[in-house]
Amino acid sequence: MTVPQPFQYQGSKRALAPLILQYLPVSTTRLVEPFCGSAALSIATAARGWAKEFWLNDFNAPLAKLLSLIVNSPKELGKFYRELWRADHADALEHYYQVRESFNRTQDAHRNDLRMIFEAL
Ligand SMILES: C[S@@+](CC[C@H](N)C(=O)[O-])C[C@H]1O[C@@H](n2cnc3c(N)ncnc32)[C@H](O)[C@@H]1O
Repeated sequence: MTVPQPFQYQGSKRALAPLILQYLPVSTTRLVEPFCGSAALSIATAARGWAKEFWLNDFNAPLAKLLSLIVNSPKELGKFYRELWRADHADALEHYYQVRESFNRTQDAHRNDLRMIFEAL
């Protein structure tokens, strides 16, 4: 089964998810995924329809907000990334460094939530 991956993440359990899920009940009301990172196990579980609810935890606040935006505001998120990628036309490497610099300087948590996925690519 091919499962979607919203972004690459260090330590992702995406490749191991089929093995790990062998140890979960086939059906559960709520899957709790602490230290969720890219939420690979929740996504794999959702793709199989094995849980009705998901509870994700990660102390990386921009990451947690990004996951929330993916679930709750996918159109807004898609629009933001379309614009970000379209701006990347002349010098891709320079554009990457500009976005990273802006990410590191801004205190605007909402914009950083959105940009984090760009940084992860
Ligand atoms: C190796 S990554 C997890 C990868 C995840 N299993 C996946 O499939 O993408 C570890 C995660 O734990 C989070 N983390 C570390 N210490 C934490 C803590 N005390 N409370 C909550 N999250 C924590 C980090 O922010 C990081 O996203």
